[in-house]
Amino acid sequence: MTRSIAVAVTGASGAIYAVRTLAALLETGAQLEVIYSDYGRRLLLDELGPDAKPDRLVELLVARYGDGVQRGRMTMHSNKDLGAPLASGSHRCDAMVIVPCSMKTLAGVAHGLSRNLVERAADVMLKEKRRLVIVPREAPMSLPQLKNMVLCAEAGAMILPAMPAFYQMPKSLDDLADFMTGKILSALGLPHELYPRWGS
Ligand SMILES: Cc1cc2nc3c(=O)[nH]c(=O)nc-3n(C[C@H](O)[C@H](O)[C@H](O)COP(=O)(O)O)c2cc1C
Repeated sequence: MTRSIAVAVTGASGAIYAVRTLAALLETGAQLEVIYSDYGRRLLLDELGPDAKPDRLVELLVARYGDGVQRGRMTMHSNKDLGAPLASGSHRCDAMVIVPCSMKTLAGVAHGLSRNLVERAADVMLKEKRRLVIVPREAPMSLPQLKNMVLCAEAGAMILPAMPAFYQMPKSLDDLADFMTGKILSALGLPHELYPRWGS
């Protein structure tokens, strides 16, 4: 059965992780429901340039990652639309990833604020006991930020910090993004070959 996955892009540095994750998920044939926060949109443009406009993003994904990226499988939702299907537990959405996740959105999820669709959809994942993967990025981190990660983990989310490893001898930023994306797909239970397995 086709998997339906929500992807939220918020205003932390690391837009390359967002686009690599979207492309890799589309390559698996998953159906994506995508939400950008205002600062998520801004960081896409700031870090990847004018071609990373959210409404034209599929073109960028195909250009960067090839024809394996399946078009027509990405639905976008306004972050203001709290009436979107993702806001309800009765909607079929198997899992969600917030990549990258700002400290503000992390705080909103940790405290169940549901101020916008990203936070509400994450809250739905937690209450329905579905997989929620949070990819936070900040350095250094304050005590409230660390505590917010603990709260999310205690509520059932997987905290997968944007911390690429170097043992796979990365040659480029794309190698680092592939590593993080591989971790995300693994967390979602999806097979991938984004990095060589240790020992293989
Ligand atoms: C260039 C730039 C880089 C930023 N990087 C980060 C970051 O790495 N982590 C973070 O938590 N916030 C970062 N911020 C701040 C967030 O974007 C800001 O707190 C915003 O309100 C987050 O809103 P959102 O969670 O709705 O996207 C950055 C902002 C800008 C303009």
